Amino acid sequence: YVTVFHTVGEVRAWRSKQQQQGNTVGFVPTMGALHAGHLALATAAARACSSVILSIFVNPAQFAPHEDLAQYPRTLRSDIEKLTPLAQTTHCVVFAPSVAEMYPRGITTDRTQQRGTFVEVLGLSEMLEGGSRPHFFRGVATVVSKLFLIVMPEMAFFGQKDVQQCCVLRAMVGDMHFPIKLEVVPTVRGEDGLALSSRNVYLTEEQRKRAPAFYRGMCKARELFDSGVVGRDALITAVAAEAASEGLEIEYIRLSDPDTLEEVDSVTSAGAILSGAWRMGTTRLIDNTLIGFE
Ligand code: PAJ
Repeated sequence: YVTVFHTVGEVRAWRSKQQQQGNTVGFVPTMGALHAGHLALATAAARACSSVILSIFVNPAQFAPHEDLAQYPRTLRSDIEKLTPLAQTTHCVVFAPSVAEMYPRGITTDRTQQRGTFVEVLGLSEMLEGGSRPHFFRGVATVVSKLFLIVMPEMAFFGQKDVQQCCVLRAMVGDMHFPIKLEVVPTVRGEDGLALSSRNVYLTEEQRKRAPAFYRGMCKARELFDSGVVGRDALITAVAAEAASEGLEIEYIRLSDPDTLEEVDSVTSAGAILSGAWRMGTTRLIDNTLIGFE
């Protein structure tokens, strides 16, 4: 069975017990509404570490006032059930804190009213997702710092699906000397290629059918690259054309340097990230692929 902790004190007590017993701790931060993507992270953690802790916390600090904080799915009971198979073979616990536990001085999505302590990773947070969601990575870096200091894991696991989040957090871990090894797990997709996301539940049946066009576009771009095309415009146009064929409302499609995330003109020997965001009604989805990596 899966033990659920709600307080920092409970996690700290569990953590020191793991230490005493010589168990290594692998950590999987999530906002819940668990799907096979989250479970792939937990499985990777179970493979690498003797104990796994998964946090489930819908973090207000990473939502803008107009975003979906209130609607975001909260399904703790079924989330815990989804972890039961893993818990048969690995010691696995859940940390599901309240907002007051994580933000002792309160938190509001209204930036003008915010008080408290925040972590900002300048230089990687402003482009791509940061362009559309200006304070998003400040919220992510802040909550992940708090969680790291509460859980003190040896390793933490993040999904390639949120590639910029991985870059930002890798930089944060380096800058702040967190003694934690980050692992990136490949994106888990549905049979039609759509990346699994907790936000997919917002899609109507009709939107869900059209959504994989972005992934198909990225596959076309990768095929172009394999046939020798390295230029940004051709690769982006391939994604845009496929997305347009299903009427996806594109927010951005970019080709970026894998380390700095700066826009690049072509895929070099260092490889590149092809990423984008699109809207379907009120739902906003993102995806990415790596190009030119072995
Ligand atoms: P959330 O969207 O719940 O995602 C939790 C973790 O699961 C992230 O590392 C994300 O990249 C990974 N993930 C989501 N969908 C995936 C998929 N289809 N394949 C593989 N991995 C996938 O990301 C967050 O929450 C939050 O920003 C968080 C880091 C928890 C901070 O609040």
